Amino acid sequence: MKDQFQSGPLHGKVNNKEERFSSSGFILAAIGSAVGLGNMWKFPYITGQYGGAAFFMLFVICLLLVGLPVLLAELTVGRGGRGNASTSLIRLSGRKLWGGFGFITILGAFVILSFYAVVAGWTLHYAMLSFTGKLFEHKDYALLFSNFNASWMPVFWQFIVMLLTGFVIIRGVSAGIEKFNKILIPGLVILLLVLCVRALSLEGAGEGVAFFLKPDFSKLSAESALVALGHAFFSLSLGMGAIMTYGAYVDKRQSLGLATLAIGIGDLAYAFLAGLIIFPTTFVYGLEASQGPGLVFVALPAAFSAMPLGAIFGGLFFVLLAFAALTSMISLLEVPVAFVREAFGWSRKFSVVLLTLLCFLVGLPSALSLGDKAPWLTFGGKSFFDWMDFVCSNIVLPLGGLVVTLFVGYAWKGAAEEAGLSTWWLRLWMFMLRYVAPILVLLVFLYSSGILTF
Ligand code: PHE
Repeated sequence: MKDQFQSGPLHGKVNNKEERFSSSGFILAAIGSAVGLGNMWKFPYITGQYGGAAFFMLFVICLLLVGLPVLLAELTVGRGGRGNASTSLIRLSGRKLWGGFGFITILGAFVILSFYAVVAGWTLHYAMLSFTGKLFEHKDYALLFSNFNASWMPVFWQFIVMLLTGFVIIRGVSAGIEKFNKILIPGLVILLLVLCVRALSLEGAGEGVAFFLKPDFSKLSAESALVALGHAFFSLSLGMGAIMTYGAYVDKRQSLGLATLAIGIGDLAYAFLAGLIIFPTTFVYGLEASQGPGLVFVALPAAFSAMPLGAIFGGLFFVLLAFAALTSMISLLEVPVAFVREAFGWSRKFSVVLLTLLCFLVGLPSALSLGDKAPWLTFGGKSFFDWMDFVCSNIVLPLGGLVVTLFVGYAWKGAAEEAGLSTWWLRLWMFMLRYVAPILVLLVFLYSSGILTF
């Protein structure tokens, strides 16, 4: 197949080296996208809620059996179509309808980014509080967290992280996205290892490790399986056009199969190490691992305050979280940026400035809905923030995953050639995409959107 870099349609830039990843840069950027708040903020508390080690095993199975095939499908579509998450689908199928489905994932990425930035902002605030020691002047961390949310600080930090994200993307794929991931990911690994050693050397860490690694299968249910699958999708950044968009910047010589494996291992290793930090820490200090979204911002500060050199370790922990969030935000912002550049022919600079500001504005109600400034932003039993998370993570994301799965499994005949797998792997991949993934993803969708209940 002729490489479309040569024939042109990649945002109208013919053969533009600035808009391509190197092989290692691509893998790091994709790992950066996958590794994010999901691994460190969401994964530990859902693991706590749904049965510890048994849940972790389910997560690994879902990641391998469904997550990786869909990840490869997204990469293949991106590289084959060489467009944004909508035009790639149109180009490869010759049908506008697929582009419409793709467009929904682009909207999804934009909206996820709008509230993801709010949480990313919290991490920077908490890093500052920790390093300056202010975090430990308090005793009631739940109160501290709700007072913080009632102030204007979350909006300030949300603005800062959006600016940082825009600042990286404005420089382009090679000089921006790739370069920053090459700095941030090694930094992330070092921080992760330092914190892991710290957590595991705490006295009594074993109990937390056991909770995380000793499975109790009686805790498993159909519900935990669906939550695990939904999280495998979120964690690999699937269904939001992010991986598809990155795929468009990948060289034809890159083995997509190996890249998929590397991204999967990277994401899993990170989740594993995050568990080894969070569970021992919470157990040693007698905190509740299943307490929900407040785990990282409420329970962990209490642990850091009691730990020797807690200000430093706490600060490093929140910096780690901020790095992880930033590399995911970069991949999310690139999705709509790629779209508007191609659709309207705008320059990268203009597209990034416009979408960064727009996304900040769209995120404002999310940030404000968690304080007491705007009670009207809570309706139907959920805050605006929770609604955004609910709609994106539970409806748009599984639907986006389903679209890609069906597209590669049934609609696009050139997928096998583009993926470049050997016969045996190809058969397995197609089998998963045609028969296994769609059914499971549909179940997740029905369950997480509330249509199917247990
Ligand atoms: N994978 C990211 C995380 O775990 C979230 C994300 C989802 C990023 C979808 C991009 C697209 O935090």
